[in-house]
Amino acid sequence: MSKSFQNRKIRWGIIGLGKIAHKFAADLLTVDNAQLYAVASRSLEKAKAFATKYNSKAYDSYELLVNDAYVDAIYIATPHSFHKEHTLLCLEKGIAVLCEKPFAMNSDEVKTMIAKARKHNVLLMEALCTSVLPHYQFALNELKNKTFGNILKIEADFGFKPKFDINSRVFNKSLGGGSLLDIGIYPIFAAISTLEEPNSIEASATFYENGVDSSCSIIFNYNNDVKAILESTFLKTTPTEAVFYCEKGIIKINSRFSGPTTVTKISNNQEETIDFYYKTKGYDYEIMHFNQLLRNGKTESDIMSFDFSSKLMLTLDKVREIIGLKY
Ligand SMILES: NC(=O)c1ccc[n+]([C@@H]2O[C@H](COP(=O)([O-])OP(=O)(O)OC[C@H]3O[C@@H](n4cnc5c(N)ncnc54)[C@H](OP(=O)(O)O)[C@@H]3O)[C@@H](O)[C@H]2O)c1
Repeated sequence: MSKSFQNRKIRWGIIGLGKIAHKFAADLLTVDNAQLYAVASRSLEKAKAFATKYNSKAYDSYELLVNDAYVDAIYIATPHSFHKEHTLLCLEKGIAVLCEKPFAMNSDEVKTMIAKARKHNVLLMEALCTSVLPHYQFALNELKNKTFGNILKIEADFGFKPKFDINSRVFNKSLGGGSLLDIGIYPIFAAISTLEEPNSIEASATFYENGVDSSCSIIFNYNNDVKAILESTFLKTTPTEAVFYCEKGIIKINSRFSGPTTVTKISNNQEETIDFYYKTKGYDYEIMHFNQLLRNGKTESDIMSFDFSSKLMLTLDKVREIIGLKY
């Protein structure tokens, strides 16, 4: 039986209490008609500390959280390699899922997750927060409305230099480590959300000794010599911008384009920068979008649709095949 959310807050749970879970929980506290109801960690101590900080219940196992009948929605914030398993755990209990990016490790896993959501008629969405942020929606509209004409070229990058730590999910192969899946997904997202899937892909990568990619350079080729030049790297800090060169001007999403930021429009030697006056880290926008879907009885997002998440993962699969990255 479907739940009614009338006259009450949506009760959120979180699985996996690492870095991003803290940012999400802090932003959730700013959202009306929603509450952080319970959190789950593999460690009771960690769960209790997190729950005390954000005022929620604490569970020392993910299974205990999904067995709590009061939970409406769960945010999955575990390493990529667990996204499928933890999503299925929730969906089987009829709990709506907002699962961190990348949605899973590959297209087969994404297919399984979507099929399960459909079977149980439960809301499922990939938490690629950029997609719902007002500055990104603004840039997308400008590009779709062809304010400056057609896109001729995209340049998008994401680079920072984390300290190598084999135990960190960022580098550990069994946890889905590597630059492509962690941060390369954002430049790829910028290209797919504006120009769709490319006709052909060129890609090359550098690797750490454990076989995960330390950097990845990608070119997407489209009709009429239109190109998207994309990069992810853990070897250096890069501007982390998304720049759309169009026929009559440039739309530039400033650093870091994936999170709350500004957009600059450049044409005829004139520059205008639009500020979106963000007050949070931006996760409240995906929470509000998800809450609205849930309240409206939707099982899929119109922004991060199943079709879009599938295309994104298929493109990541193709790039991995070209650079020879296997998990
Ligand atoms: N960090 C960011 O800025 C960011 C931004 C956007 C998206 N994301 C995505 O969010 C996901 C989590 O990223 P994160 O940076 O928060 O990672 P993290 O700090 O390493 O946290 C991941 C959490 O997953 C849980 N976990 C379960 N099994 C694990 C295992 N075998 N090894 C390690 N951790 C395990 C742990 O929580 P418990 O110990 O509590 O069980 C851990 O704290 C990733 O898929 C990432 O792509 C992260």
